[in-house]
Formats: sequence, structure tokens, C-alpha cells
Amino acid sequence: MNVLLIGSGGREHALAWKISQSTKLEKLFAIPGNPGIANFAECVGNISIADNAALVAFAQEKNINLVVVGPEAPLVNGLVDALNAAGIKAFGPKKVAAQMEGSKIFAKCLMKKYGIPTADFEVFDNPDAAKIFIQEKNIFPIVIKADGLAAGKGVIVAQTLDEALNAVDEMKTFGSAGNKIVVEEFMNGEEASVLALTDGEKILPLIAAQDHKRVNDGDKGLNTGGMGAYAPAPVVDEKIAAQVEEKILKPTIAALKAEGIIYRGCLYAGLMIVNGEAKVVEFNCRFGDPETQVVLPLMENDLLELMNACADGSLSDKKISWSNQSAVCVILASGGYPKSYKKNLPIDGVTKAKTLGAMIFHAGTKLVDNELVTNGGRVLGVTATAPNLREAVDKAYRCVDVINFKDMHYRRDIAAKAMRNA
Ligand code: AMP
Ligand code: GLY
Repeated sequence: MNVLLIGSGGREHALAWKISQSTKLEKLFAIPGNPGIANFAECVGNISIADNAALVAFAQEKNINLVVVGPEAPLVNGLVDALNAAGIKAFGPKKVAAQMEGSKIFAKCLMKKYGIPTADFEVFDNPDAAKIFIQEKNIFPIVIKADGLAAGKGVIVAQTLDEALNAVDEMKTFGSAGNKIVVEEFMNGEEASVLALTDGEKILPLIAAQDHKRVNDGDKGLNTGGMGAYAPAPVVDEKIAAQVEEKILKPTIAALKAEGIIYRGCLYAGLMIVNGEAKVVEFNCRFGDPETQVVLPLMENDLLELMNACADGSLSDKKISWSNQSAVCVILASGGYPKSYKKNLPIDGVTKAKTLGAMIFHAGTKLVDNELVTNGGRVLGVTATAPNLREAVDKAYRCVDVINFKDMHYRRDIAAKAMRNA
């Protein structure tokens, strides 16, 4: 098969690495890709991932058999619809199904209608009405969310009335994404991510992972795209995993189908485990980043075959087998991230880290005169696998220790929660 991968992050590097192991793969292209992905794919930098027509034309020219869409923006922008209309198969939901991430209100209302466990909420298109509701409710923390895509910044957990009222005003800064807002009950528990492959009928949940969203150790500081992850996440024990499958994933795919929407691709359920019960924090319409960087190294299947079956609607005879190892990914970020940060700083030690047994997934990197330099907030993901979580953590940090760039920042407590609870 000729495959085109859309995206340029650590998630896409992990996807490229895994797809490249498929016996079915003939040639892999990536738009735009990154220097890590370039080890597995021909990267094409001059086409925008927002330009559906240009992407369709490229896929036609290269006889692409499957397009794998990594990030949410092109999914919400209808790339899969455009590809399918031109007779090109794609892994990822169509625009109407991608609303699961593209509109928090769509996802929350679907959950409410079909009894899928999630936090209580109210929807507002008028900021003053939202403020009155918050004042009358008077329970804190309370969560304020922009309806649309806001690059991971559209959620504010407000600890006080003042913070909540300011949060409502802040939603205006997200442009049309913040025209409508959700005010939501705060759930106090432990978070986990369960991703599932689906062809719109059958679901295959992937092994549970836990992300670390805050920028600093101890879950302090600003929210980020994710500073590290590990899998499997023991907070999702067998009982919770069964609950997630039966009470969340299957009913969600069935609910979408009942609404006339066939969801194909990866459905990401962000969960809060509250007193032994899983509730949905959010849905995403794609693989998680950095969850993918710990889940795929534990998957023993041919991923391309599974993705193709999702796109074809033929997942029913597939099963996933998992290695019994653990995986840990530590994100190396630019100093200042998730606020402003410098770019073009030389990166040392990647080759050495690889010799120590880590997988290095590139996210914000680029090559300038053959030298690897920083080019984003999340720069690299260092993933290690080992027979248990503690060894995987030790191995990952041994590899982190040999990598360096100016102002490099990373969390030192990835997976600490799981080891404390063990
Ligand atoms: P989201 O972008 O929806 O994943 O939200 C970002 C983060 O905000 C989540 O990972 C949670 O840590 C937090 N969050 C969102 N909604 C809630 C909620 N209802 N209760 C508690 N925390 C929440
Ligand atoms: N790791 C969070 C996300 O992918 O949305």
C-alpha cells in the first residue's frame, strides 16, 4: 500500500514508525512530516494540511491507498470527506463525526441524550447569562470551556468566583471557538486516556495511558499539550476498563450511529476516574499526543492493517495483542512553553540517547544545514519500554540525561503517580 500520513508531531512520528513496520507498506509519504518522520517517509513540505484540494490532488498523483490523518484540525476541516469524495480511503472520522472534538457542546449533548457518564453542564451563548449561572450555583472549582477548537487552551478550571467570571470573559479570546461556552461541574479524580479504534460498528480499545497535562512536577503550572505519558495506566484496572468499553465507548459509537453518523478512526476518551467510576472529561477525534508514543510501542499488531480495516468497515474479525511491557514517554520542551519560547536552538545527544535504548520521537525539530535544532514547544519525546514501569522510567530518564538544548524543560515525575499507588 502507498500511505500518506498528515501531521508533524511526536504522535505522527510514532505512527510513521509503527506503519513502517507493516508488511503491507510499499511507500510512506508525510505532509509535512519532520526530521524524525523523514527516516520512514518521504516528507513533502510545500502543501498546507488545511488545503483539502491540494491534499486530494497529491493523494491522486501518488496513487495513495490510505491517508492517515494525525491532527484534529484537518479532520474538523473535512479532509476525510474530501478524500472519500475523490474515492480515496482515509483513516479518521468525517467532518460531522469529528465534531466529537470540534464542538464540546455536540459531544456533551450526545452524552446527555444517551446517558453516557460525564460531568453535569449548561451551555451558554451569552456571557452574562453564564456569569449569572455561575454566581447562583456558587460551587467551586467550576470548569469553563470554549465550544470549539482552541489549541488545547479552551478549558479553564476556576478555583474561585473571580476566576470563573474572568474565565467567561477569556473565552472571547478564542474567536468563534468561544462564541458558545460550556460551564461544567468539576470532577475530582484521577485522569486516564483510553483510545479506541473503530469502524463505526466494532470498537477495539487500546491499552490505557495516562498523560501529564501540567507543565511542572506535581501537576503544577499551566496546561500543556502533554508533558509525558505512560502505559498501561493501573488506574484503569480490569473493572474500569470493562466499564469504559461497555458504558462509554460502545454506547458512544452506537449513539453516533443512531444519529446517522458513522465514526471511523480513533476515538479518544479522556476520562476522570471518580470513586471507581469512569466519566468522560472530553472526546478527541484522533490519537493522543503523547499517549500514542507509549501505546504503539506496546502494540504487537500490524497497525496499517488495523487502520485499513477501520477505513473499510471490516474491523469485526480483528483483535489486538499487547506486549506485557510498560512504556514511558518524557517530553522535552522548550523553556517557556506553553507560553512563548525560543526556536532554532541546537539539540545535542539524540544519537547517544538512541544507543542507550530509547526511542526518540521528534515533535518540534527541524534540520538547518544538517544540524538538528528546536522548532516548537514540545521538541522531543523520549520513550523507553521495559518489563515494568519502574525500569521503563529509569531507562527513559537515563536517555533524557544525555540530551540537551538551551533552556530545555521536562518533568521529572512522569509515572510517579502510578508507582506511588503500586
Ligand atoms: P480538556 O481540554 O477538555 O481535556 O480539558 C483540559 C483539562 O482540564 C483536562 O485534562 C482536565 O484536567 C481538566 N478538566 C476538564 N474538564 C474537567 C472537569 N469537568 N472536571 C475536572 N477537570 C476537568
Ligand atoms: N494528550 C492530550 C491530547 O492528545 O489531547
